Amino acid sequence: MAVNYTTQDGVAVITLNNPPVNGLGLSTRAGIVEGIERAQNDPDVKAIVLTGAGKAFSGGADITEFNTPKATQEPTLATVIKIVEGSAKPVVAAIHSVAMGGGLELALGAHYRIAAPGAQIALPEVKLGILPGAGGTQRLPRAIGLEAALNMIVSGAPVLSEKLADSGLFDEVVQGDLLEAALAFARKVGAKQGPHPKVRDRKIEHPNAAGFIQFARNSVAAIAKNFPAPHKCIDAVEAGVQNGFDKGLAFERECFIALVQTPESRALRHAFFGERAASKIPDVPADTPLRDISRVAVIGAGTMGGGIAMNFINAGIAVTLLETKQEALDRGLATIRKNYEASVKKGKLKPEALEERMALITPTLSYDHLRSADLIVEAVFEELGVKEQVFKRLDEVAKPGAILASNTSTLDVDKIAAFTKRPQDVVGLHFFSPANVMKLLEVVRGKETAKDVLATVMQLAKKIRKTAVVSGVCDGFIGNRMIEQYVRQALFMLEEGALPAQVDKAIEKFGFAMGPFRMSDLAGNDIGWAIRKRRYQERPDIHYSKIADRLCEMGRFGQKTGGGWYDYKTGDRTAYPSQVVDEMIGAFSKEINGERRKISDEEIVERLVFALVNEGAKILEEGIASKASDIDMVYLTGYGFPLYRGGPMLYADTVGLYNVERAIRRYAARPNGDAWQLAPGLAKLVAEGHGFNG
Ligand code: 3HC
Ligand code: NAI
Repeated sequence: MAVNYTTQDGVAVITLNNPPVNGLGLSTRAGIVEGIERAQNDPDVKAIVLTGAGKAFSGGADITEFNTPKATQEPTLATVIKIVEGSAKPVVAAIHSVAMGGGLELALGAHYRIAAPGAQIALPEVKLGILPGAGGTQRLPRAIGLEAALNMIVSGAPVLSEKLADSGLFDEVVQGDLLEAALAFARKVGAKQGPHPKVRDRKIEHPNAAGFIQFARNSVAAIAKNFPAPHKCIDAVEAGVQNGFDKGLAFERECFIALVQTPESRALRHAFFGERAASKIPDVPADTPLRDISRVAVIGAGTMGGGIAMNFINAGIAVTLLETKQEALDRGLATIRKNYEASVKKGKLKPEALEERMALITPTLSYDHLRSADLIVEAVFEELGVKEQVFKRLDEVAKPGAILASNTSTLDVDKIAAFTKRPQDVVGLHFFSPANVMKLLEVVRGKETAKDVLATVMQLAKKIRKTAVVSGVCDGFIGNRMIEQYVRQALFMLEEGALPAQVDKAIEKFGFAMGPFRMSDLAGNDIGWAIRKRRYQERPDIHYSKIADRLCEMGRFGQKTGGGWYDYKTGDRTAYPSQVVDEMIGAFSKEINGERRKISDEEIVERLVFALVNEGAKILEEGIASKASDIDMVYLTGYGFPLYRGGPMLYADTVGLYNVERAIRRYAARPNGDAWQLAPGLAKLVAEGHGFNG
């Protein structure tokens, strides 16, 4: 049963019981109506308490029902709320925990609301690309005032119930047993003569509503240009202010129906479920016992090691930091301290927290100090020989059952695991730079990595607030393996006729945070050069453009050398198109092709994005990623792919795989077409009429 019904001394208690978060799916909605009707028909019942079992009052509408017939099947949420509001017997919403979206809208339809402190209250619909569609844009401003409501609706951010205690939303915020308090409250109001108060009858009072709405509109225009929902939130609130509750409600409904169909909403919902799905590994049961991780060690206090250590410290987990030399250790600690000092300056960290965090680090030069570590993350130089030394040493000192992780970005995790006598305890934890900031963590599953090791690190990733995605072992794992194809195309296009600024502008207009050439200048062109040199040896069969090597031969390694694909001025990170580079590109094209052609922005975007998609399809086929949404999560959280497009695989579904396949075949028939080996898995999906996401 999605809803339970009991009575206690003249009060009916309707309890939402639809785990995990009491989503308001069809059966829950029907159950509420049934409960309200039963209470009306029972002469002994004088009042009704509406509450939730488990970890939420309600997390809102059931998002999985969106765009299915169930979403619009009666009783819809709007109908349920109307029935609750219209109940002759007073309805008291008792909110012990999360009341979000439709959950809060339902509570706003009740005549009274009482809450426990600590309950998360929000209208987070905007984060899913929609707006509150069951009266939230109309009732919340009437409950807590225009400004506070608009802030909550446009940001979607949760506010704790105690902060709203005097807002007009709650009749009481009570400590102790909430149900007891709700029952007592219900008895009290049940004894009163009706009609009972309705939020819809309250007035929105504001000295300058039009001015404030305009202010909100300007703020949203600056931050949400690719998302329609925040704008519609304001429109809907405004409609209620100007035209009254009923017209506002009708307009809100219209906007909701339109928004739920948008690609932006689809993308945001895909990301919501994708993030949660990423933590589920098909052959690792949810109840796999976890290893206890209370002490972590990090080896190497360089760029990555320092950032990795900060993640654990920020989560209150003590870290032993090991280096080979005192100077390197001091340098690493100083960088960590500097990062925290910067956070204090920005007001993001309390000054006293700085020393508390630093105190969680135990610096050391001795492996003896790693004996008690439950997890050891290696972040030393990217050389197999150095990794070998480290892992052999770890095998000697680490306690049995300790998880041994490598942050390698290019080396074979199975080879690293084989340096130990416990390959089942070895896993790749591929953090992204800066490791204390970037959300993405690729968890690299070796062929012998134990299931409980995987389950433990996935759980730990949540604790340190990372989006963890499992990747099998292959060159570049999910993210870098795909980006290699993207960069290959970018370089070919320079040879064929484009210039760096055109390529960057086109893909940035598509929504990427930074185009490939600005990105390469930031990371250092020498890094890619070193990787390519290795690839030329290992894979002489693969055709790479040599144009980037020419740039490196000119000593143009990027921002750090004052010039790369672009020119840079001292102290200024702006990328200025470079005449010498553009001339070099022109000369290079002539050398190898004899001519250059005009390349359209559309071609640039297709070649870059479809290169990702095609490689992503191969990654899926090989089982390197277990689902398409995992690949999208990698790109959304680690590579600046535009969130409103939902990641490369969802984008491909939106364009239609049939169209993607046709474009790939077209490019494969052109110069440099050998870089396009159509993924058989993609062709198969087209033949079957499926997309990556069903
Ligand atoms: N519908 C369907 N499933 C939902 C859901 C919802 N509204 N909210 C959460 N879930 C599912 C999650 O997908 C997850 O499923 P899984 O276990 O199969 O992976 C499970 O519930 C638990 O979710 P979390 O892992 O996120 O659990 P937490 O305890 O960390 O967080 C939460 C709970 C704060 C409720 C969080 O899940 C959340 O923010 N949910 C989304 C809330 C939301 O956006 N509500 C608005 C919905 S739209 C709406 O109401 C429209 C209305 O205006 C008409
Ligand atoms: P780095 O050069 O900044 O730091 C490496 C540190 O390891 C140095 O401080 C060095 O003194 C120390 N070190 C070397 N040998 C050691 C040993 N035997 N024992 C203990 N410490 C030792 O390098 P960076 O960039 O931090 O890279 C580390 C690892 O992280 C590499 O495997 C790299 O591929 C990987 N990585 C790097 C990313 C980046 O953007 N820099 C991104 C993701 C992974």
